[in-house]
Amino acid sequence: MMSSYQTRRKFLATIAFLLAGILPATAQERRVYVPPSLDSVHAISAEHGMVVAQEKISAQVGADILRRGGNAVDAAVATGFAMAVTYPRAGNIGGGGFMVIHSAERKEAVAIDYRETAPAATTANIFLGDDGRPDIAKSRDSALGIGIPGTVAGLALALEKYGSGQFTLAELLQPAIALARDGFVISDDMADTLPSWHRRLARWPSSAKIFSRPDGTPLREDDRLVQSDLAETLMAIAAQGPRGFYEGPVAEKLAKAISDAGGIITSDDLRSYRAVIREPVRGTYRGHDIVSMPQPSSGGIVLVETLNILEGFPLSDLKQGSPASLHLLIEAMKRAYADRARYLGDPAYVRAPIQTLIAKDYADRLRAGIKADSATPSREIVAAATPPREGSNTTHYSVVDSRGNAVSNTYTLNFSYGVGLVAEGTGVLLNNELDDFTAAVGASNAYGLVGYEANLPGPGKRPLSSMSPTIVLRDGKPVLVTGSPGGSRIISSVLQVIVNVLDYKMDVAAAVAAPRLHHQWLPDEVRMERGFSDDAINELKRLGHAIGGTMEQTSANSIAVTPNGPLGAPDPRTRGAEAAGQ
Ligand code: DON
Repeated sequence: MMSSYQTRRKFLATIAFLLAGILPATAQERRVYVPPSLDSVHAISAEHGMVVAQEKISAQVGADILRRGGNAVDAAVATGFAMAVTYPRAGNIGGGGFMVIHSAERKEAVAIDYRETAPAATTANIFLGDDGRPDIAKSRDSALGIGIPGTVAGLALALEKYGSGQFTLAELLQPAIALARDGFVISDDMADTLPSWHRRLARWPSSAKIFSRPDGTPLREDDRLVQSDLAETLMAIAAQGPRGFYEGPVAEKLAKAISDAGGIITSDDLRSYRAVIREPVRGTYRGHDIVSMPQPSSGGIVLVETLNILEGFPLSDLKQGSPASLHLLIEAMKRAYADRARYLGDPAYVRAPIQTLIAKDYADRLRAGIKADSATPSREIVAAATPPREGSNTTHYSVVDSRGNAVSNTYTLNFSYGVGLVAEGTGVLLNNELDDFTAAVGASNAYGLVGYEANLPGPGKRPLSSMSPTIVLRDGKPVLVTGSPGGSRIISSVLQVIVNVLDYKMDVAAAVAAPRLHHQWLPDEVRMERGFSDDAINELKRLGHAIGGTMEQTSANSIAVTPNGPLGAPDPRTRGAEAAGQ
């Protein structure tokens, strides 16, 4: 018998489903986060290692690898492939991402860049319409927006270089293969996303048949999602390594499906894709080392720049969530996001002044321009541009093992379910990542992020990202592993988790659960979650901050590493997140 709670939830789900035809997609999925009382949230502890991910089954897959003697990288690879099956809106092999690894065994930190690249035939004006203006349907809704997927290459590279050596790629793929072949039961969280995204998926029969019931309606909670073609593709990768994906029958099917849908990715583009090992961006903050993602993400640079600005203020003397503290956060964000827009892009194409941007003395200059008693208008920071639109979904997971290794991984299809196209015969759901390029100088992407020349589309180029997988170290040992989805809001979310832990000494679960705000320079407005006091909001207004709409969802699944073992903080903003310990 259903409890009254369940009955009410089913009823509400039915209403939501009926409304699906009328409301815009983002309104369906938008669940307003109401922060719990921060005293009531507690991190989840484990003795040895831990995986905190957005989806339970895949978190358990990773924890099981830890239990069987794998290291954090082994576990991260297994979780990454499993989420391509169990969390299809963002977990993927048809998209890309970034992994930051702290290898205690090798005494080094590295960043694996498996961002999607633009096909060789890409031109700078590919996303313009006949009138020469940005045509957002081209980059967001059409196969032209698909970048060459990087996830398979990235996860395989991470394993080859930083795995424990105890597991082969084929072994780590087994759980994903079984989940795809045998299916799994759809959770409430996933079921909630389908009514709104189903129409987008159903533009292609190859996608519709996977995500629909026999009557053509979207799959629902408790239905079983079986992905036989995806199982075959994962088996090809298990048998041949990344070549099973980038060459041969799978690659041919991907290229054909993309071309049939009007895209320009060729078999050659797929064959020549390479993941890259990069030197992470490093900074320091109040005696800690920050290790984060370099270009083609803006994440690490903007994060370090913002932290450098904040370091000169006595944040811990100001109460967490107080208007004085929030004002400083906002002013610091604004300045760092303005530099993002101006300078950053794919390092193979642009020479950004990184060393300046992350230098302490540069932060000193920016800090000097911050007034305690008023907001600086964004137009005084750099020239203005256009307002934002909403978009959604990426996923972040954090892993630590008992040997002192840590992995911070964020990967994405860009929008939920990417462009919506499952390449026929492969089970691979493809991204629309190329919308992260700047279609024209001064134009903005789906997250309202303005860009200039540095981020125009180009052949083989990687679009600028905000994904910010980050590891914080103290005396060379990881103390915090964090990151988030959320487009432009990723960097500010990661920033606030770090400030809450390091400045405000909050328990990691409270640090993650605490309400967040966001300013990205343009538009000149602060987005705030619920949970800030009216006094704080009123005081920010008095200081001259424009308060915009609610801040869209982020999900910073984090781990604090303590002498007593890892403490996991699955973000309460999205249901289904799990801290799986060992
Ligand atoms: O790379 C980026 O910055 C974006 N494509 C990430 C998209 C994202 O986080 C969507 N999630 N809400």
